[in-house]
Amino acid sequence: MSSDQSINLTESAFDSLRNLIKSEAGITLGDSKSHLMKSRLIRRLSQIGVSTFDDYYNRLQSDPTELREFINALTTNKTDFFREQHHFTFLRDTYLPDLKAKAKSGQIPRRLRIWHAGCSTGEEPYTMGVVLSECFPETGWDIKQLASDIDTEVLMKAKAGIYEEEKLNPVPQDLRQRYFSRGMPPNQNHFVAKDSLRERIIYRQINLVGPIWPIREDVRFDIVFCRNVMIYFDRSTQINLTNRLMRKLKPGGILFLGHSETLMVSNNSFKSVTHTGYQLIPSNQMEAA
Ligand SMILES: C[S@@+](CC[C@H](N)C(=O)[O-])C[C@H]1O[C@@H](n2cnc3c(N)ncnc32)[C@H](O)[C@@H]1O
Repeated sequence: MSSDQSINLTESAFDSLRNLIKSEAGITLGDSKSHLMKSRLIRRLSQIGVSTFDDYYNRLQSDPTELREFINALTTNKTDFFREQHHFTFLRDTYLPDLKAKAKSGQIPRRLRIWHAGCSTGEEPYTMGVVLSECFPETGWDIKQLASDIDTEVLMKAKAGIYEEEKLNPVPQDLRQRYFSRGMPPNQNHFVAKDSLRERIIYRQINLVGPIWPIREDVRFDIVFCRNVMIYFDRSTQINLTNRLMRKLKPGGILFLGHSETLMVSNNSFKSVTHTGYQLIPSNQMEAA
């Protein structure tokens, strides 16, 4: 039996496959990523009994289930609890107390909408859930988090909310106890997010470069996380996506990007509030500035 690695990824097959992942998911793979592509896909070829990458590409033209597997295999899903902690510190110490004060004086309703665009396996929405629970111990607030990804496999893991103990390392002990339960034997090395976190989160498959997002037209978010997602896109896709995300924010809403990502729209629309955290300037203030 031939070993997996003996299957050659030809230059033309690499080009066809990278054009496909670009058009389906916006992910741009440079010339040096042929090895990465091969290592991510080779197991799929064996699993479905396809012997060349050209045949695999042909299969993808007519098999939507395999196309989904192809996308899942080529996404990069690294994430952590409390990743880029300064975003959560800013929310806890500045933004959320400010919203609470505004709600108390009747300027805004007690309502909060948050979108995790590219949520991977769920560590980001659950981290936000912990921060929300700590900041809003009182009832009477209507809070919902939308957590979305293109990758159906990570969405299933996010929904399950089950994590190995070492994944929970960034979560302080007291918060871990309040918001996660240890699994029952034989899963005692795993922790499960408690219902108090899960009940606020709605999971949905959303392709950020797809023509239409399945989100009601009139919905605007107070906070949008789109962190470490655009890094895989080319410049024009980044600009286009940032403009679309901007239109889904409420005036005064916050857009968080990843640590190595830069804001791809005019600085007149946003003001920087923390490292890679940007607040949408209400249009009346833009005119006054
Ligand atoms: C590196 S993870 C970042 C997870 C999390 N936001 C964080 O910063 O820890 C990037 C995620 O973006 C998702 N992604 C990539 N292309 C996407 C697209 N076109 N639409 C939606 N999600 C996408 C990937 O599946 C992956 O789960």
